[in-house]
Amino acid sequence: VTIRKARINDLMGMQACNLQNLPENYTMKYYLYHAISWPSLSFVAEDPKGRIVGYILAKMEEDLQPEEEPHGHVTSISVLRGYRRLGIAKKLMLQSQEAMASIYKASYVSLHVRKSNRAAIGLYRDTLGFAEDGVEKKYYADGEDAYAMRLSLKP
Ligand code: ACO
Repeated sequence: VTIRKARINDLMGMQACNLQNLPENYTMKYYLYHAISWPSLSFVAEDPKGRIVGYILAKMEEDLQPEEEPHGHVTSISVLRGYRRLGIAKKLMLQSQEAMASIYKASYVSLHVRKSNRAAIGLYRDTLGFAEDGVEKKYYADGEDAYAMRLSLKP
């Protein structure tokens, strides 16, 4: 499996992967918006046959308060079932975080995750060092709460 920057041609494969893995889905317009606005922040994992088996869709936060520092945001990440627990999500996260810091001078990266999502919380907190940054009540369409999490990208 190869990890590389996402291209416009990959967006349909990323959307297909997202539809298989998560109930939070996005329009093609929103994928395109990420790819066009922040072309260096989204990555894919591709199998030898060129199939997208994982992706990270990421952006810079847009509506900053005057006192807020620029920061990145992970809109969505997932890996197809047969490819999990191989370190793919970790690599996708690290590549995107590196680009957020070096290209956009992001001081931290933020994301939301379902309170019940043990695998993803394990990845963010235990493997990558994210800390919990509050709870957003009923963040998801089905009423589940989200943890807001963030990781400093300062050296
Ligand atoms: N249980 C506990 N810890 C886990 C699990 C799990 N099932 N999966 C990963 N982790 C933790 C472990 O610490 C793991 O390290 P280890 O394997 O050395 O123990 C570490 O995360 C790194 O795991 P990776 O192999 O890099 O993770 P993977 O490629 O399997 O992808 C992911 C993890 C993305 C959460 C995957 O399970 C998935 O696609 N789940 C469904 C979609 C999803 O929940 N996406 C996140 C939603 S939140 C958001 O998008 C911002």
